[in-house]
Amino acid sequence: MEIAPMNFSSFFFRSFGLHVLFLCLVLCFLEKGFALAGRKDKLTHHTVQLNSLLPATTCTPSTKGHNKKHGSVLEVVHKHGPCYEHNQHKTKTATDLHAYYAQFFKQDQARVDSIYSRLKATKRYSTKTDYNLPITQSEDTNTFPAPSATTVGGSGNYVVKVGFGTPAKSFSLVFDTGSDLTWTQCQPCRFGTGSDLTCYDQTEPIYDPSLSTSYANISCNTATCNELTSATNTGPYCYRATNTCVYLIGYGDKSKSAGYYGTERLTLTATSTDVFDGFLFGCGQDNDGTFVGFAGLLGLGRNKISLIEQTAAKYGRYFSYCLPVDQSSTGFLRLGKDGGNAAVKFTPLTTLPVDKSFYGLDLVGISVSGQQVSIPSTVFSTGTLIDSGTVITRLPAAAYTAMRDAFREGMKRYGEPKTVEGVPDTCYDLRAYNLETVSFPAVAFTFSGGLTLELKSAGTVIVIVDTSQVCLAILPNTEDRQPGIIGNFQQKGFEVVYDVAGGKIGFAAGSC
Ligand SMILES: *[C@@H]1O[C@H](CO)[C@@H](O)[C@H](O)[C@H]1NC(C)=O
Repeated sequence: MEIAPMNFSSFFFRSFGLHVLFLCLVLCFLEKGFALAGRKDKLTHHTVQLNSLLPATTCTPSTKGHNKKHGSVLEVVHKHGPCYEHNQHKTKTATDLHAYYAQFFKQDQARVDSIYSRLKATKRYSTKTDYNLPITQSEDTNTFPAPSATTVGGSGNYVVKVGFGTPAKSFSLVFDTGSDLTWTQCQPCRFGTGSDLTCYDQTEPIYDPSLSTSYANISCNTATCNELTSATNTGPYCYRATNTCVYLIGYGDKSKSAGYYGTERLTLTATSTDVFDGFLFGCGQDNDGTFVGFAGLLGLGRNKISLIEQTAAKYGRYFSYCLPVDQSSTGFLRLGKDGGNAAVKFTPLTTLPVDKSFYGLDLVGISVSGQQVSIPSTVFSTGTLIDSGTVITRLPAAAYTAMRDAFREGMKRYGEPKTVEGVPDTCYDLRAYNLETVSFPAVAFTFSGGLTLELKSAGTVIVIVDTSQVCLAILPNTEDRQPGIIGNFQQKGFEVVYDVAGGKIGFAAGSC
């Protein structure tokens, strides 16, 4: 079988190294932390200095939230921010920024589209258990199947370091609550035949199973091998010559990884006793696409083979993360309860009917400028999921329109809203306020059980390229029956707690 050539714009790869400053323009706000409701007086607006939206180019690690009691705590960094070691010495131009944002919205939409197509699919998998796949690392790499089904794309934005192998070596993996299979690159990323792309800036070390004494392959036609089907929406495949189980995972942005399914010793922090023998993961022989600058993916979904399920005996299906408000700072990923954060407020965890792998919750209302927006409750009946890899929150169109109109009302003093690059429709030119403070209407989401999240300005507006394009950072769904998605842009600064065993999801402000 032949692999379809990759059609990525080469820009994304050429400019990968330039992203440090780019996203910082979006994400670096001086104002930190979020407020959780429960306060007596409702927040009506945020006032920030516009020049506080300028990017920070040096990393200032957070000093909060890393207190380790029980459970394993890993440092979280944004893969395009200055705290990620592979983003040193990067520069940018205005042209790069424009192209970057075009790509950014395209990739985020690709992830959203792949989530929706997964939720819509009635027949989700093709089962192909009998491919005789010769897997070689030499010239003949066009021997893996092309993805016939995809899992969610866009592969997330936040990176942690974990140890693989014996002796343990450290690798940077993107973590993703919308994926289940964990995999590492066992061969450098490459691009399909016919593509003019090269693996730019491939500085990340690659996991090599032959240097580890604890790696083992999974055999074909075993229950373990067959579990890949529900986690990857395809396969499993088999390399018949040695009866080795082969995984294939295709992402919505046409990236893919394929290789041997195996077990390895996983060490969750360098110094910790949190060691898991026989951890199931994919050893990627053929990695195509956007896997540049990190070594693989950590699957935090709800399927049986996710990290959360595989470590359930130790961590009790309880984990949390805090994504830094400012991209030039750090957050954490904590596995296990760690005594519990007393400030966390919870809402019930729900399951979306078609795909049980996602984490769902019930959004029931939205307020803008301290006023409840009038939205019929049926608008939210499609459900809402929370995802670490989608950036911009998606709302049912009717909810979005009502909320947006209220937001525009609160922005009247800044003139008429405009559209930027065809994506966000509520943007303002605020260049005139560069040396002054600006006020944005406060936006809050209410979830079932009375939990209210008051987004701060960093989760409310996105600055695209410069202060001539300051936009509401929420987008509508394209179809009414699609569920809403709470994206990571709105999650920044909260500790987001997934108490899967307890059936609830919680938030605590100001944890990182
Ligand atoms: C795993 O299977 C592949 C393919 O047959 C083989 O090249 C590799 O040596 C195997 N690794 C181990 C540790 O058995």
